[in-house]
Amino acid sequence: MGKDAENPQFALQKHANSLKHGSLNDLLCGEGNQSRAKALQLSFHSLQVDFSKQRLTENTLDLLTQWADSCGLEQKRVALFAGEPVNLSENRAALHMAARWPSDTAAPEGMAPTVSLCGQQREKLAGLVRQVHSGHWRGVTGEAFTDVVHIGVGGSDLGPKLVSEVLGDTQGQRFVRAHYVSTMDGSQLLPVMQSLNPATTLVVVASKSFTTADTRFNVRTALAWLCEGQGVDAGTVCQHQVLGVSARPEKMDEFGIPEAHQLLFPETVGGRFSVWSAIGVSVALELGMAPFEALLAGAHAMDVHFQQTPLAENLPVLLGLVGAWNTQFLNIPSHLLLPYDGRLKSLPPYLQQLEMESNGKSTGPNGEPVPYVTCPIVWGDVGPNAQHAFYQLVHQGCHEVSADFIAVAGRPAVGAGEVSEAFQAQERLTLANCLAQSQLFALGDAAITDELRSTTELGYRGNQPNTVILLETLDAWSLGALLAMYEHKVFVQSVLWGINPFDQPGVELGKKLATRLYQTLTDAESGSEPSSHGIINDAGTSQLLEQLRRLRA
Ligand code: F6P
Repeated sequence: MGKDAENPQFALQKHANSLKHGSLNDLLCGEGNQSRAKALQLSFHSLQVDFSKQRLTENTLDLLTQWADSCGLEQKRVALFAGEPVNLSENRAALHMAARWPSDTAAPEGMAPTVSLCGQQREKLAGLVRQVHSGHWRGVTGEAFTDVVHIGVGGSDLGPKLVSEVLGDTQGQRFVRAHYVSTMDGSQLLPVMQSLNPATTLVVVASKSFTTADTRFNVRTALAWLCEGQGVDAGTVCQHQVLGVSARPEKMDEFGIPEAHQLLFPETVGGRFSVWSAIGVSVALELGMAPFEALLAGAHAMDVHFQQTPLAENLPVLLGLVGAWNTQFLNIPSHLLLPYDGRLKSLPPYLQQLEMESNGKSTGPNGEPVPYVTCPIVWGDVGPNAQHAFYQLVHQGCHEVSADFIAVAGRPAVGAGEVSEAFQAQERLTLANCLAQSQLFALGDAAITDELRSTTELGYRGNQPNTVILLETLDAWSLGALLAMYEHKVFVQSVLWGINPFDQPGVELGKKLATRLYQTLTDAESGSEPSSHGIINDAGTSQLLEQLRRLRA
């Protein structure tokens, strides 16, 4: 057997070399372009995914699918849904699909217990939401809650925050206002404390480990604010105005949160995969259970698609394969996320954590180096604004960049008469910009029409491969399907690269070093003899500590 048949990656590298001198202009405007483009556009309910501006042919997809096969993707997909310990370093399953699996639908045997636990917690969540909305659950002074301050970071913040921002303006009714606080510096908490009434504020402490310093320090300040604002002690505040969400009930007990105000989610639901679990409680508090349940339904529909669809028509599989093709075989080091809808402004940071905290690794489960390039640098911003920020680099800079454009075809009518007309004109303008930029990324100079050539300097590099994801409407269901599609894309790539996407060892060390430096700074400010606290005294850090001691004296 030739090398190609033995090693799909070798065949793919040879194929990539053969395409190196071709261009997207050839693929998009040359012979057979229509049938190729049509074959590269797939749909899933109200989602369309258009791969036609990717630097690949249908033969490429065949080779990529063979590669996926050779990596045992189908078997590993079965193992994922069966609740097998796919998270090898922590010897744990990864069952975020269970958090959105309908309680009345048969689940794979290994997933069923987690489906049941998540279903029970969702029932408890719904009960607490009803208590808040009905005014049954009130603050220390007996007033109903008007605001929820959700304190969490990373996966305990980004998902609920994103969902609240997307659905917040489409839901007619906001039961309470949700405020998301994550940064350890207090900059998000300060305006909340300055503008809210402590007596009508419910604090949600969202932390899977219940030990993250960012969250602990924000909660300490928030509790002090609630206590001072009402002249009561922390125990009283915890009894009445704190809702805890964690995988560690013993830590919530220790903190003083009544069991009735604790929501749990299992260790097998990873932080960056947890928006579907009780971590999403603030979405339901703000907007009600219906949109939260619709979000879960969209994600579940994508789960079923991913679980059951043959690889060649499977959206998460194709997203994963195309991404790996760009990163590993076309050597494109960074990937842009460009939502053309401001409601998705938090999608880039959400997906940054999902993709780079999962696959930002270069060693396999046994610590052996992975002999090829894995996760790209994922970055992005709301597309229309990014056009005024970094698109110049993509168009005429020195770097190859791949991109996902995410656009929304239509929004519910806003206002009437001239307002409605003007708003629809804005929608058209946004869609036109999305398509124009996607075309210019792909074609470069070839996108300049004869009419424009006389007044346009050439030099647009083009050949920047990009996918256009088009949502019919951006609602809870389609948002859930979109996010689940990316979750499974990440899993597919982890299988291709032979890495564990469900742990995050690299992040833990940074936190440990920070804890020691925090103690050093605290010693200095309390006047006690500064000690090294087990940190490396490099010259740079030492002189900065000295400057901080002086400036903060
Ligand atoms: O960034 C590291 C991390 O552990 C993430 O994986 C997690 O989402 C975040 O910190 C917050 O962790 P926790 O929910 O335990 O507070």
